[in-house]
Formats: sequence, structure tokens, C-alpha cells
Amino acid sequence: MLAQREHAGYPNVDLGGAAPVLDKNGKPLRGKAAPPYVENGVIIGRFKFIKMIGGGGFGQIYRVVHIEDGNLIAAGKIEPQGQDQGRMILECQVLVLMRGKHHFPTMYCSGDYGRFNFIIMELLGRNLTDIRKRTRNKRMSVISTFKIGIQSTDAFETLHREGYVHRDIKPSNMCVGHADRGNTVYLVDFGMARRFLNKNGNNFRPPRHYAAFRGTMRYVSIRVHERREQTPTDDLISLYYTLIELCEGSLPWRLLTDHDEILTQKLRYDKHKLFMYTPKAMEEFYEHINNLSYNEMPNYDKIREIFQKCLPYGVRCDDPFDWDEDVSSCYHD
Ligand SMILES: Nc1ncnc2c1ncn2[C@@H]1O[C@H](COP(=O)(O)OP(=O)(O)O)[C@@H](O)[C@H]1O
Ligand SMILES: [Mg+2]
Repeated sequence: MLAQREHAGYPNVDLGGAAPVLDKNGKPLRGKAAPPYVENGVIIGRFKFIKMIGGGGFGQIYRVVHIEDGNLIAAGKIEPQGQDQGRMILECQVLVLMRGKHHFPTMYCSGDYGRFNFIIMELLGRNLTDIRKRTRNKRMSVISTFKIGIQSTDAFETLHREGYVHRDIKPSNMCVGHADRGNTVYLVDFGMARRFLNKNGNNFRPPRHYAAFRGTMRYVSIRVHERREQTPTDDLISLYYTLIELCEGSLPWRLLTDHDEILTQKLRYDKHKLFMYTPKAMEEFYEHINNLSYNEMPNYDKIREIFQKCLPYGVRCDDPFDWDEDVSSCYHD
């Protein structure tokens, strides 16, 4: 099922990864919030884990180096096994499908290691939340925002045409490439993806009456708050909130955690108040995606055109970003 799945060969041994640490409600801490899952120097799937460079709600990401070819530096994602392990299997399936495609990290191998599952993939630079926070005003320029918009639209088009929706689009699930790929935006974290096209790939799967919440409250569309089935449109609505946050520095509901309060704000917020720095073209984008029916694919060309209009004449979406390389590289840490 998993391409190139490797068994590191230590099925039931505690490999020295820290035992789960519990939060105040007795639940195990995960991802970014947990202590490192493995010690620096551990070898998994022929790669030596050097240093933790990132973490999300579930996984931890390490810079890793191939034990025989010291020039092969990569990223190792590791997640504890358990009730959520379907996430990583799904992530592998999507990464296999996207292998070699622009805007997606190349997966090298995957497998299990004691109580953990791992994926070794192309090393990327920082995620867009980290980059935004490292800029002087904690927000990105209009030019950077819309370059990211165009590149993300390309990435979504590729993913959606393969029949998958991402379902957790947000700045921390988008990274720039490493070193000379620093001008390219990559999508990461496919643990919540879902196939929306049927097996033949020619029609949308029928929507479920109730779809459990998937995504991150701050960025999901109103339809996701209403527990409706997600389609490509919902990834694009999350892109809308993502781009506004990048350009403005924050979204008005950033401090709220309650589901209903966030939904109320999204429904009631006067759109115009969302845009201080963001060009009005963002509204045109919203109009287009908000008017799509359930089984309609977005018009990716039209979206790219809207975003391109916000860039000065002659600026291309893959021209260098206006932040310094040390803002976006996680390698030199
Ligand atoms: N291939 C990679 N190279 C470098 N950093 C990465 C890579 N993949 C993910 N990251 C970083 O690690 C963070 C967490 O990874 P992610 O896949 O989103 O995990 P989670 O499923 O726990 O959210 C990301 O926000 C990003 O900063
Ligand atoms: Mg993530």
C-alpha cells in the first residue's frame, strides 16, 4: 500500500523516543507541543536525524542526512502511532501521487520505527507563518502576498486535478523551498486530505449529509463550520483567509477559540474592514469562489489573472521574494 515503505526493523522496542508527556487534561502532548519524539543522532530508514526544525499539531520535522551520502540532506517527519495513524498513511498516498510535481516536496521513503511512523522527504525552507513573523512589520508586502497567491493556485490546481482536496490550507502548511528553491511555494501536510472525485476521476463524489470538522478553525470556510463536505472551493476560501492574514498581519478573529464565535465573526465581519493593505481585487477573488456550486471546479486561470493584476507590470510570481534568504531558510539555524 505504501510505496517504498521501509521497516526500520525494531517493531516492539522502545527506541528512546520520549515517553508521551501528558497535558493537564491527561491527553498526550503532540507535535510542536511535545518534547522531541526522537533523540538527535538516531538513524531511521538510512537517515540520521540531526535536529528538530518544525512541528505541527501532530508531527515533528527533523533535518536529516543520508548515512552514506552526506550530501543528501532531507526532512524527516515523524508521528506517534495510535488512533491518528491513518493521517500519515494518507499523507504518503498523496505524496506518492504528487511526486515530481512542482510545489510538492518529493518523498524519498516512509515506514515505521518502533512506536512511530516516519516520512523522509525533500527539505524545504520555513513556513509562511514563520516568515511573516520574521518580517519587520509582521506582515508581507502586497507583491509577496500575490506571488504566493498565484503559486498556491498552481499548486491547488495540480492537487485538485488529481482528485484531492487538502482541507487544512493555512500559512503554516505552506513553505518556501530550500536554498536555490527559495522562490517556490510548496504545500505540505496532507494528513487531512480527502478524495473528492470518484474512482474514474470524472465526477464529484456525492456529498455526505454530515462531514466531521476537518481543518483549522481560523481558516476554514463557512461551509466547513456548517459541517458540509469540502471541495476545491473550500481550499480556495482558506487561501483567501491565508492571504489576508499574510498581507494584513492578522485576521480579526485571531484571539478567538470558540467555534461559534469565530463563525459569527466570519459571517458578520464587514469585508471592507478586512482590507487595510490588501488590494480590493481580493474581493473579486472571493466573489468568484463564493458563487461556485457544490460540484463546480474553480476557474484557476481567472484566479491567477485576478492575482496577477495586483502585481506591478512585468513582475512574475517566481521572481525572488522581498525578504532575505536568512528569513526563509531553516537550514542555517
Ligand atoms: N519537508 C519539509 N521541510 C522543512 N520543513 C518542513 C517540511 N514539512 C513540514 N515542515 C515544517 O514542519 C511544520 C509541521 O509539519 P506538518 O507537516 O504541517 O505537520 P503537522 O501535520 O503536525 O501539522 C510545518 O509547519 C513546516 O514548518
Ligand atoms: Mg501542519
